Amino acid sequence: MTGPDAPTFDLRPNANPVADAQREKLLENPGFGTVFTDHMAVINYTEGRGWHDARIEARAPIPMDPASSVLHYAQEIFEGMKAYKLQDGGTALFRPEANARRFQDSARRMAMPELPEEMFLASIGKIVETDRAWIPPGDGGALYLRPFMFASEVFLGVRPAKEYLYMVIASSVGSYFKGGAKAITIWASQDYSRAAPGGTGAAKCGGNYAASLIAQSEAIKQGCDQVVFLDAAERKWVEELGGMNLFFVQDGGKIVTPPLTGTILPGITRDSIMTLAREEGYEVSEEPYSFDAWCSDAQSGKLLETFACGTAAVVTAVGTVKSADGEFTVGSGGTGQVTEKMRSRLVDIQRGKAPDTHGWVQRLF
Ligand code: PLP
Ligand code: COI
Repeated sequence: MTGPDAPTFDLRPNANPVADAQREKLLENPGFGTVFTDHMAVINYTEGRGWHDARIEARAPIPMDPASSVLHYAQEIFEGMKAYKLQDGGTALFRPEANARRFQDSARRMAMPELPEEMFLASIGKIVETDRAWIPPGDGGALYLRPFMFASEVFLGVRPAKEYLYMVIASSVGSYFKGGAKAITIWASQDYSRAAPGGTGAAKCGGNYAASLIAQSEAIKQGCDQVVFLDAAERKWVEELGGMNLFFVQDGGKIVTPPLTGTILPGITRDSIMTLAREEGYEVSEEPYSFDAWCSDAQSGKLLETFACGTAAVVTAVGTVKSADGEFTVGSGGTGQVTEKMRSRLVDIQRGKAPDTHGWVQRLF
């Protein structure tokens, strides 16, 4: 990456990287979010000085003062993206500039400084290049990248901080859900909301996930994989899962997804699926869909499929929906044809197996 905002990263290699044989063992079955690479990218921000000291260094614990304001007021944002192995042996990112822009949008909402797009992209490119040996081989695997930024100023007053730390860590991953591509079961939370109008639902800030965890633990107790949130005002409209957007496939070729009203995350997978589904000839509509309609349409057969999508989960069918009032099955309860088609359309582009007609795939090397 070049340009006025592309920083030079000081490369400080890890003196004790994981041995090759041990890394290869870790890559055999990495699961999600437990296997980490040898390095991390770091950039400091200080008010008045701006972004400085961009570096790649050994992944290590962060020394932190107990009065660092993130620990008290949760001024923190993050992103989630993947580096994929291409069919021809190369390595690529998928729409990374969309993550860079969403990171800026999240920063604005949380009164944090915006990291220039070029710095974001350069940090991602550098960490993938440095830790390229950690990209799992095989079709389902990827290097999951987690850029994040938090208020590091040592200060207890309630105001936006004047110092921040931006970092990128990388994790070798396989499938997000145990058991791979099977349809998931979800729990509809009627007691807890994730985000309210005027709140932070459209920002990718840690606080949204903290607010979702009590409902996620309810879901787990109910034997479900994920929680689905309804809107906070009326408790009527389906919004999204704890970490994925939703699509509803109706009889007759119409596909519905909840609109971006500020309470759900504008998913990059969601946006890509809308484009690909239109290309496949479906009518795609961003419109409110009620929980009651979901239940009755599934029972009447008007609704054929429901699927969830996101970077971590890719495209996953929703088979069964449970709530305090009972449960219903969507379609056959397994992965439907449209879900499978949209999953393979997306994955084939990401892996360089199908033409990238939208310029979404950014080859790194
Ligand atoms: N919704 C939430 C709450 C998420 O955490 C995610 C994951 O990032 C998504 C939706 C999907 O977003 P994307 O497709 O950009 O990964
Ligand atoms: C992602 O899909 O990248 C996310 O951030 C979701 C998270 C629940 C893993």
